[in-house]
Amino acid sequence: MAAARRNVELKAHDPDPARSLAIARDLGASDEGVLKQRDTYFRAREGRLKLREEEPGGAVLIQYDRPDDAAARESRYRLTEVADPEALRASLDAALGTLVVVDKERHLLLHDGVRIHLDTVAGLGSFVELEGVAGGGSDLEPERTKVARLREALGIEEILSDSYSDRLLGPDALVAAATAVMERAYAPYSNYHVGAAVRADDGSIHAGANVENAAYPQGQCAEASAIGVMVAAGRRRIVEAAVIAGSDKLCVPCGGCRQRLREFMPLDGTIHLCSAAGERRAMTLEELLPLSFGPEFLQ
Ligand code: THU
Repeated sequence: MAAARRNVELKAHDPDPARSLAIARDLGASDEGVLKQRDTYFRAREGRLKLREEEPGGAVLIQYDRPDDAAARESRYRLTEVADPEALRASLDAALGTLVVVDKERHLLLHDGVRIHLDTVAGLGSFVELEGVAGGGSDLEPERTKVARLREALGIEEILSDSYSDRLLGPDALVAAATAVMERAYAPYSNYHVGAAVRADDGSIHAGANVENAAYPQGQCAEASAIGVMVAAGRRRIVEAAVIAGSDKLCVPCGGCRQRLREFMPLDGTIHLCSAAGERRAMTLEELLPLSFGPEFLQ
């Protein structure tokens, strides 16, 4: 089997693409022109799978996996050239299902082995991406250094941890799943019905409700139920979550559930707090659980 290739990459909002382009050119980056790209994401069992159709250029099937954290991160990927993209798209759609389609224009520049992408994504806006493509035996340190230097030159502060596809999927489907499952809550003692939904890193949504017990401490929160459903489905990473209760007040996860989410979710991941009255508030996990303890403390 072909070994996965590796990248060090980051993505950020770009409030001023013209300025970024000028900086990249001043640094001596070569201008490779503007590409039109259409990425069709399929429902993969592990990681992500997308068909990229590019103009000018051809089509390629991209399988990749990367941690969802807000840092310049390593991405492992495999590329397969595709001669008949329409037929492949139809096959994968029939077999796996299509998650989302991302259309963008990419202004591509190359600087010392780093790809600079100035992306305009339909429905999302402007972004800049840096990709340090690693050579065969690289320990990724040279790529990290080059990406860090370019980041500084371009004045990139906040790095985004989610993908364009996650952003396009948006919170509505997640909130709808949490709302639907709330109807199934078993809460005869508190009469406080809660629904939670989590989106895993392949875009799949997993939902659960609270399940109470006559022996009160044996009750289970909705978030714990949703996480159990996700893990049983074979996913381990949450990119976004929503909680709702049958109340006019916003539902906030209890302390224990903040910690449960922390196990599977990056600190900058968004949690949508919702009320039955239709109110919504988006907060990051870090806002809900500052200075937190997590799996990396035990590595
Ligand atoms: N509950 C949840 O399901 N999630 C939370 O984060 C807060 C509390 C449930 C537990 C119990 O069944 C009911 O709400 C009242 O505490």
